[in-house]
Amino acid sequence: MQEYDVLIDEETIISRIKELAKQIETDYLGEKITLLCILKGSTPFMVDLSKYIHNEVKYEFMRVSSYGNERKSTGNIQVKVDLTEDIQGENVIIVEDIIDSGRTLKFLKEYLYKKNPKSLKICTLLNKPDRRVVNVDVDYTGFVIEDKFVFGYGLDYDEYYRNLPYIAYIKD
Ligand code: IMP
Ligand code: MG
Repeated sequence: MQEYDVLIDEETIISRIKELAKQIETDYLGEKITLLCILKGSTPFMVDLSKYIHNEVKYEFMRVSSYGNERKSTGNIQVKVDLTEDIQGENVIIVEDIIDSGRTLKFLKEYLYKKNPKSLKICTLLNKPDRRVVNVDVDYTGFVIEDKFVFGYGLDYDEYYRNLPYIAYIKD
């Protein structure tokens, strides 16, 4: 393991999540919401976010991956775990851990629009705008970060460290 440091601590993450939840509640007043967790990385984020949204909330899950190394994704996105329920007519919020190139979310938006949800928005915990390759409109962003490799709070470093309660980065 290379040398690492805390980028965003647990308290900061949770207080920002509470703000995001408030914003979502205001935008979806009186509406039901389907939170679509993009596995595996978004799991803790979706769970914590959902605790502070007081609308009627449903959970859905998908897993997608790009061929080869995710960091150097070629744009070939594959659905590994698909939806198990119909989302037609629902207010779907895609809950993602991080937007890097933007390819995963661009693919997901197009894929999910075809299923005729009532509305479709994106909520990401982290956003690395410097790495964007394709443009995606993001509705809710937790934190904008520099181009650093990060892990913890759902994000992995070679599949490990997802269980850390904070977000860490590799020092260069
Ligand atoms: P995108 O399609 O390039 O936007 O890639 C998004 C996916 O790449 C995320 O869902 C993560 O799984 C992965 N990813 C991108 N940057 C990082 C990082 O810094 N740490 C861990 N995973 C990352
Ligand atoms: Mg991911």
